[in-house]
Amino acid sequence: MSPREIKPGVYWIGVNDRTTDLFEGLWPISQEGVSYNSYLVMGEKKAVIDLAKSSTADEYFSQLEEITDISQIDYVVVNHMEPDHSGLLRTFRRLAPRAVILGSAKTQEMLSGFFSIEDRVRAVADGETLPLGQQSLRFFSTPFVHWPETIMTYETSQRILFSCDGFGGYGTISGGIYDDECGHLGFYEREALRYYSNIVANYSSRVLDALAKLAAIPIDIVAPSHGLIWRRDPQCIIQLYKKWAEYASNKREPGITLVYGSMYGHTEKMMNAVAQGISQTGIPLEIFDAARTHVSYILPSLWSKEAVMIGAPTYEVKLFPPVADVLEMAVDKRIQGRKAAYFGSYGWSGGALKELKKIIEPAKWELWGDFVFRGSPTREDLRRGEEFGKNFAKFIQKSD
Ligand SMILES: Cc1cc2nc3c(=O)[nH]c(=O)nc-3n(C[C@H](O)[C@H](O)[C@H](O)COP(=O)(O)O)c2cc1C
Ligand SMILES: [Fe+2]
Ligand SMILES: [Fe+2]
Repeated sequence: MSPREIKPGVYWIGVNDRTTDLFEGLWPISQEGVSYNSYLVMGEKKAVIDLAKSSTADEYFSQLEEITDISQIDYVVVNHMEPDHSGLLRTFRRLAPRAVILGSAKTQEMLSGFFSIEDRVRAVADGETLPLGQQSLRFFSTPFVHWPETIMTYETSQRILFSCDGFGGYGTISGGIYDDECGHLGFYEREALRYYSNIVANYSSRVLDALAKLAAIPIDIVAPSHGLIWRRDPQCIIQLYKKWAEYASNKREPGITLVYGSMYGHTEKMMNAVAQGISQTGIPLEIFDAARTHVSYILPSLWSKEAVMIGAPTYEVKLFPPVADVLEMAVDKRIQGRKAAYFGSYGWSGGALKELKKIIEPAKWELWGDFVFRGSPTREDLRRGEEFGKNFAKFIQKSD
């Protein structure tokens, strides 16, 4: 891609990554891809804000060269040490030998461990301003959005917030880099929620702290390091992040995520009956086969909805493992305080329900009810399953 001037003297230097299958070695992005957005501010002094993943070196540096002589760059701001943004740092230092690295005090400490870099590094304080000539940069400490060292950088003359992971999402840039150039915002909003629930959600209280800190600052453009730049409506992505962060405590969508798994179709048959019961109430319902859907795609639903219906047979005295794995990840991601119900088939003495209770206990999920049956569900079992689904849905509607 070519660099773009987003405001006079401020450039987007972005690269798309369409070949990494798993972001952080864990989250599938082979369909969606991801972008690493870096920015160049050309004042009397020149500063680059965040870099990109090391595998993008050729493309990244040739784009940067289109705009400036790299050896003349004065600063590189490391908002965040994760290698998707800092991977090019050592190469950058060779090409820009006089550039000083700016980051938080924690970044300074981590640079030594990650890259054995100790010289030409300067820690910036929370709220500190760095004049570059016509422009100036102001730094805000935003710990744990996404790592402990993280800062955000604000260009004061044109009111651009370089927010790094904050307000970011999966999804390559497809032509247009701005919200107003993009005809399918729904894709980016969906991928921002998936990114949020996979990567950021665990630190939601820190996101709210950062939002409170940024509330006093006028923001014309949100320029994250993944995904779209928001200039027509910067509040759109800010308010989405706020809403998602608040899901950690109490304000979630009334709706049910149904996560199920089945070896021979007995639990699946029941799942259809339960889903039928739920859908009669009109409550939003999303259904996931845990064995065939990567947890990355299930977490957004679990994060944003109030209730979870779990369907899983007993497997070796335990909960069917693909379903157990999803729930364990949900608990690890601090998806807490959900209302839950369970149904499942067993062959002889069961055991799934007992293990389910153990898994969800630390996250304080409230188990509203359970419905177990032996082998293949009878017609009467299915009728009861439909009632079970309907009653759970009514309970969720009532407690909303
Ligand atoms: C590999 C395997 C392990 C199982 N382990 C147990 C078990 O420990 N206890 C039990 O009651 N049933 C056990 N069962 C029986 C299943 O729970 C039972 O067949 C159930 O109807 C399967 O439902 P599904 O078709 O939805 O997978 C096991 C079945 C399989 C295939
Ligand atoms: Fe990160
Ligand atoms: Fe990142």
